[in-house]
Amino acid sequence: MCGIVGTIGEKALRTYLIEGLRSLEYRGYDSAGTSFIDQGKVTTYRLPGRIADLEGLVPKEVTASAGIGHTRWATHGEPNFTNAHPHTSNRGLFTLVHNGVIDNFRILKRKLETQGFTFASDTDTEVIVNLIEFHYLKGLTPLKAIQKTIEELDGSYALAILFKEENERIYFAKLHSPLVIGKGETTHYLASDYLPMLAYAKTFYIVTDYQYGYIEQQDVVVKHLDPQEEKPITFHETELTVDDIGLNGYPHYMLKEIEESPEVVKRIADNYFDDNHFLFDDVLLQKMKEADQLIFLACGTSYHAAMVGRRYFEEIGKTCRVYIASEFAYYPEVKGENPLFIVISQSGETADLIRCVQLIKQRGNPLLTITNTKGSSLDRASDFTLLLYAGMEIAVASTKAYIAQVGLLALLRAALMGNNDILTDFIQVIAGMKNIIDSRDDIETIAQQIMSAPSAFFLGRGLDYDVAVEASLKLKEITYIHSEAFPGGELKHGPIALISKNVPVIAFISDPITAAALRSNLEEVKARGALVYTISNLALAKEDDAFITPNVKVYLSPLLKVIVAQYISYFAALHLNRDIDKPRNLAKSVTVE
Ligand code: F6R
Repeated sequence: MCGIVGTIGEKALRTYLIEGLRSLEYRGYDSAGTSFIDQGKVTTYRLPGRIADLEGLVPKEVTASAGIGHTRWATHGEPNFTNAHPHTSNRGLFTLVHNGVIDNFRILKRKLETQGFTFASDTDTEVIVNLIEFHYLKGLTPLKAIQKTIEELDGSYALAILFKEENERIYFAKLHSPLVIGKGETTHYLASDYLPMLAYAKTFYIVTDYQYGYIEQQDVVVKHLDPQEEKPITFHETELTVDDIGLNGYPHYMLKEIEESPEVVKRIADNYFDDNHFLFDDVLLQKMKEADQLIFLACGTSYHAAMVGRRYFEEIGKTCRVYIASEFAYYPEVKGENPLFIVISQSGETADLIRCVQLIKQRGNPLLTITNTKGSSLDRASDFTLLLYAGMEIAVASTKAYIAQVGLLALLRAALMGNNDILTDFIQVIAGMKNIIDSRDDIETIAQQIMSAPSAFFLGRGLDYDVAVEASLKLKEITYIHSEAFPGGELKHGPIALISKNVPVIAFISDPITAAALRSNLEEVKARGALVYTISNLALAKEDDAFITPNVKVYLSPLLKVIVAQYISYFAALHLNRDIDKPRNLAKSVTVE
C-alpha cells in the first residue's frame, strides 16, 4: 500500500526519490508524486499512473535542499491528479505525503471548513496538512502543530512533511503505518521500508507508534505523544542487501520467489532445529501446551497457511480455531479460558491484524506472531515472535512466505510432539521441490490450456482443499481469471451447477484417505464436460493425471502441491501478458482496513 520516501540535501535527491519510489512499487499503487523544496519554494509533481510516468514529469535536473515522494493506493477518492500526493495546505506552508487512513477526517474537515479552509481533493490527507497549518497559524511551532494535529487523528498514518520555511528538515509522524529512518554518511532518509534506503543508508531506526519528530542532514529528533515514553533511539543494521532485492536473472520476482522454496525450507530448519534439538523458546512451547485453544488469525495467503496450521495442531489434540482477521476484528469470539493467539503475517503490518492485536492485548492472552518482517508492528506487539526467514518477498502475490509459514507450523508441531524425524521429512520435501522446479515446463503446458477459460475451479479434500483455496486465490490475483475452490464432496451440494463443457477443474490429490472419494467427484464433473487436470503424487497416481509430484509425508504435501499451483498461475499470467509482480488493485502490505 502507499509508499513514502524523503531525504535532505542529498546530491542525488531526484534519483533517490524516483528510484526509492520504484523500489516501493511492489507495495501496490495507482498514483505517484514528489515535492522538492528549494529556498522556500515547494514544487510538486504528481499524477495517476506509474513511476515511469512520474519520472517523465520531473525535470532531469532538480535543484532542491529536500524532497518527499509517494506512491498512492487509493482509499479516499479515485486515482486522479487531484487525489495524488503530495498535498499542500491552503496557504502553502506545509506539504505532506501520507500512508494510512484517517477515520475521523470528515469531522475534522468540517471543523476546518468553518475556519475558512477549502479542499480540492477527496482525500483524508488534505485534511491532515491543513490541520497542521491551522494549528501553526495559532502560533505554535511546526513540531507543536504536528503534535497537536496527530493528537486529533483517529486511524493510521505515516507522514513525511515539508515546511516552507525550513528547507533542510523533514518532519514525520507515525501510527500503525510503517516508517523507517535511515542514517547515511552525509544525511538521513525516510521511507516506508528499508528497500529505498539500502544503497544509501548504513543503519536504520524503525519509528514506533505515536512517535513524531524530524530529520535533518546531521540530526534526528524523535518525540513521543506520551513524554514518559521518550527515550534515546538506537540505529541498527539490516541483513538485507541490494543483492537480496535484485531479480538475479529472473524475468519476474514471483518466479524467483517460487524457485527459492527449497532454500526457504532449509533456512527454516537451520534456524529452528540444530543438533537434534528444536530451538523454539521453551516458554512459548509451554504456553502452547497449556493453552486450551489455539486461535489462528490471518488474511489472504497467510490465512490459507493458518488453515493448514489448524489441521496440524488439531491432529495432536489441541482445540483450534482459525479466523480471517478482518472478521475476528469485529466479531471476536473466544470460548476457552486460556487461549493462545497465533497471528500469521508475511509483512507484519497488516491493518486487520493490528486491530485484532489491540483486542488480544485488552484480553491479556499470550500472543505469538509468525512473520517475515523483523521489527514490524506485529513483531513488536507480540509476546513471542517466530521469524519466517523467507527473505524479502517482493512480488505482490505471496509464494515463498506461504512455504515458510507452513514449514514453520510443521516444525512447531513437531517440537510439541518431540518428533525429531521431521528433518528427514524436510529433506524429502526439498528434493521434491527441486524435482517440481525441474519439471516446470510440464506445468506451463497445463497453464496454457486453462488460461483462456473465463472461470476455473479447484478441488481438494483435507489438506488438498486448503491448497485448492490458495491455488484459486493465486490464479485470480495475477491472471484475473475468475476462480473458486471447493472441497470435492461439496460440489454436489450446489457448485456443480457451474460446471459445463470445457470448464477447467484442477484437483489436488495427496491423501490416501480421500483419494478415491475425490476421484469419484472428478468423474462427476468429467461427465458434465469439464476439463479435469489432476495433480496427484507418485503413490496415488493414475494414468491420465496431469502432473505427478514426488511422494512426501502427507502432512507436508501442501509444500509441494502449492508450488504446482503457483506455477500454474504464474505461467497463465505470463501468457496472458499480465503485470505479474504488480497485479491491478492489489497491494503487498495491506496497511489499511
Ligand atoms: C496473496 C497475498 C495476500 C496476503 C494478505 C496478508 O498472494 O499476498 O493475500 O497474503 O494480504 O498479508 P500478510 O501476510 O502480509 O499479513
